[in-house]
Amino acid sequence: MKTLGVLISGRGSNLQALIDAQRAGTLGGAIAVVVSNVDGVPGLDRARVAGLPAVCCPQGGRTREDHDRALVAVLREHDVDLVCLAGYMRLLSPAFLEAFSGRILNVHPSLLPAFPGRDAQRQAWEHGVKVSGATVHFVEAMLDSGPIVLQEAVPVAEDDTVERLSARILEAEHRIYPRAVRIVLEGRYKWDGRRVRVSAGA
Ligand code: GRF
Repeated sequence: MKTLGVLISGRGSNLQALIDAQRAGTLGGAIAVVVSNVDGVPGLDRARVAGLPAVCCPQGGRTREDHDRALVAVLREHDVDLVCLAGYMRLLSPAFLEAFSGRILNVHPSLLPAFPGRDAQRQAWEHGVKVSGATVHFVEAMLDSGPIVLQEAVPVAEDDTVERLSARILEAEHRIYPRAVRIVLEGRYKWDGRRVRVSAGA
């Protein structure tokens, strides 16, 4: 059974989508550990309620490198095969990326490469796009830039607000993140340059 380590910083609704998929037997693996860099966040409670190891690893006064070394140690301790960033609001160091090279996924609330960075839903809404959406991608050194595994488009309604658009994008995130994790854990993809070619399956 392949294992996931999920990194969070807050609410944890994407973590919950992964937990629900694991329960439903559609994740293709099991969550071995949930790690937050922020103490007392709802995502840690969700992990505990689900009976998962929930670790708080605050950066404190440490450098990014030292903090990431501690994260890598926790993930290795739990034999993690794939790292899932789920609202993890901190850039990863080159050493972390190296330690889990090709084995880190992120979910982002826009159709990348449009609107990387924070507040992507508001960026899209203010830009006036007619379609936005959600993306799951492999993580590379540059922020929100890695090869794309899955995307789901979310049309922007004429009378939308940022809040309503964000809520629909979040639902799309919850649909595609567990599906993308399963594709990766089951090895149902091939590299074609920077294109991730997904083969058919469950
Ligand atoms: C999501 O919109 C995710 O795409 C972004 O941060 C948000 C985290 O939400 N990176 P949650 O903590 O999973 O509820």
